[in-house]
Amino acid sequence: MRFTVAIDGPAAAGKGTISRAVADRFGFAHLDTGALYRAVGVKGGDPVDAARGLTPEDLARADLRTLEAGQAASRVAVIPEVRQALLDFQRGFARREGGAVLDGRDIGTVICPEAEVKLFVTASPEVRAHRRWLEVGGDERQVLAEVRERDARDMNRADAPLRPAADAMVLDTSEMTIEEAVAAAVAQIERLR
Ligand code: C5P
Repeated sequence: MRFTVAIDGPAAAGKGTISRAVADRFGFAHLDTGALYRAVGVKGGDPVDAARGLTPEDLARADLRTLEAGQAASRVAVIPEVRQALLDFQRGFARREGGAVLDGRDIGTVICPEAEVKLFVTASPEVRAHRRWLEVGGDERQVLAEVRERDARDMNRADAPLRPAADAMVLDTSEMTIEEAVAAAVAQIERLR
């Protein structure tokens, strides 16, 4: 059985939490595609070479979840050759036997336009910054500024900008609990399965 769930949206909207819950619930494999860009961003050196030579060890680094890694990821993510180098791996993962959930920025629009289910998970910048701040701490206004900066870079780049696919279901989680957001995603998958 091949079945792809594409989950896109801006930073800290709840994509990761929803993706893991959905993968668990349906027994699908999960790929956090942001981790690929984070690993390229923190590896240093030439980003195109880093993307072409990405290893499992790169993806297991302890520092991938930091704010700095997120910023570094969004800077290398504007480079078309970096995106191209990561394309085949993501497409192969999406069509693996047994079903797959991929979360990122361009899964429904570029990586898997044929995905059976497309969700665009979003929330207000303030809510997203607050959630990220609960994870990383520090100055909440600084976290909000970084969220806005990363949104702008992801939405305004020429190659694969962040936007909902025409046939994506938009899920605004600003006023939702995690349980409600997961339930909405599960219901949509059940409808389309
Ligand atoms: O989702 P996450 O916050 O880990 O992504 C880090 C950065 O990687 C994003 O801000 C974005 O610039 C880039 N990214 C991307 N395309 C994806 C996933 C992530 O451009 N599919």
